[in-house]
Amino acid sequence: MKQRVAILISGRGSNMTALIEAAKASDYPAEIVLVVSNRPDAPGLALARAAGVATTVIDHAAFGDQREAFERALDDELRNCRIDLVCLAGFMRLLTPWFVARWSGRMLNIHPSLLPQFKGLDTHRRALEAGVKRHGATVHFVVPEMDSGPIVVQDSVAVQDGDTEATLAARVLELEHQIYPRALRAVAEGRTKF
Ligand code: GRF
Repeated sequence: MKQRVAILISGRGSNMTALIEAAKASDYPAEIVLVVSNRPDAPGLALARAAGVATTVIDHAAFGDQREAFERALDDELRNCRIDLVCLAGFMRLLTPWFVARWSGRMLNIHPSLLPQFKGLDTHRRALEAGVKRHGATVHFVVPEMDSGPIVVQDSVAVQDGDTEATLAARVLELEHQIYPRALRAVAEGRTKF
């Protein structure tokens, strides 16, 4: 039985697309059954629909400061769809310990750095400023602390002379599109334990 996966997005959705493409393979151990966006205008929504994946918008703004009510709506949707695994892919909301605990060991995130380096935003700019020779991306299990949690897959690229934030970001993004499908496969096959 394939694992039933929901992808949570807030924007562009290129990692989402990489997961949808990978999951088309008949031997892939997971199927993408749902894409949820917390923003109605996320460009990734149209990409998901074009790929034939069901989409839902749960607009966090509609819940005001009721963070838990937003998460309860999200959790209800995931349970209604009998979701086994959740992949955060450019999902720009911090999740409460309550939600993280509910999906503990069953929720992944991708972050554009070699964690534990450069948690948070603007990772490519900060990597260039720090003068690191290698930079990369990490897929990890989600724990209450942001951009932390057991690492599933991590890989790196060389920082090149003359790299700008944009060129480095593009090289890392290509890497992200390779490692997220690998990480989801490993977790769906039960090869990586939380
Ligand atoms: C990616 O760089 C991801 O690592 C970060 O946000 C970006 C999302 O891009 N968390 P996309 O929406 O997957 O294109």
